[in-house]
Amino acid sequence: MKLILLGPPGAGKGTQCKRIVERYGLAHLSSGDILRSERAAGSDLGKKAQSFMDSGGLVPDDLIIDMMIGAIRKTSSTGYVLDGFPRTIVQAEGLDAALKKAGEQIDAIVCLQVPDEAILGRMTGRRSCPQCGAVYHVVNLKPKKDGWCDKGCGPLVQRKDDTPEVVSNRLKTYHEQTAAVLGYYQSRQSRILEIDADRPIDSVTEAVFKALEAASV
Ligand code: AP5
Repeated sequence: MKLILLGPPGAGKGTQCKRIVERYGLAHLSSGDILRSERAAGSDLGKKAQSFMDSGGLVPDDLIIDMMIGAIRKTSSTGYVLDGFPRTIVQAEGLDAALKKAGEQIDAIVCLQVPDEAILGRMTGRRSCPQCGAVYHVVNLKPKKDGWCDKGCGPLVQRKDDTPEVVSNRLKTYHEQTAAVLGYYQSRQSRILEIDADRPIDSVTEAVFKALEAASV
């Protein structure tokens, strides 16, 4: 199974991807997570991405396309979920070209829909584990012990780009450059599963699983 998860920042892409990959045995390929690992490792790519990420803009398409096509090529044949990629029409075209060359295609695009008003509280309340990548929320998905990862890794941290100012830039970037990606796939008659993600996390998960099963993906 090969899926793309689309949605604005804070829509719950990472949260739902973790549940999808667990249920269907897929690889989770998150462009944001890969970029954060590159930054932590101090690589050239990480250094180039830093200023774009910290301001809420997009990292240049050529860097992202090479990075994500490389990640796809490294996954096993069991399939994958793309989280945060493609984020521009140019990235979607780059992905299409690479898949076509390999004789592959995306089975479905899961689109999480959340109004802007719901986003800020989600992002500023998010806490993540820098060791295992688990994501929590101070109200909506609390860890068992305040500020600590449930898996015993250690203290949780707040992402630097989750401040109100950067979140507002990320939303602006989403509307200006990423929202059009849905139209790109609509115009190509791709299978699109639209999910109301403005409801509790477990209800969203249930709706995603139901939609995937109803579409026989
Ligand atoms: P990235 O890490 O991809 O950030 P994002 O797309 O802005 O998405 P987030 O990870 O912030 O949110 P999410 O939808 O995964 O939500 P989550 O599940 O965590 O990218 C970061 C940066 O990297 C970009 O700004 C850009 O600079 C760069 N970048 C990445 N990809 C790129 C690309 N392709 N091209 C160019 N640049 C790129 O949930 C958020 C919080 O809400 C959590 O606390 C969660 O517990 C809570 N929550 C989740 N669902 C619900 C719910 N239903 N109800 C209540 N709370 C919920």
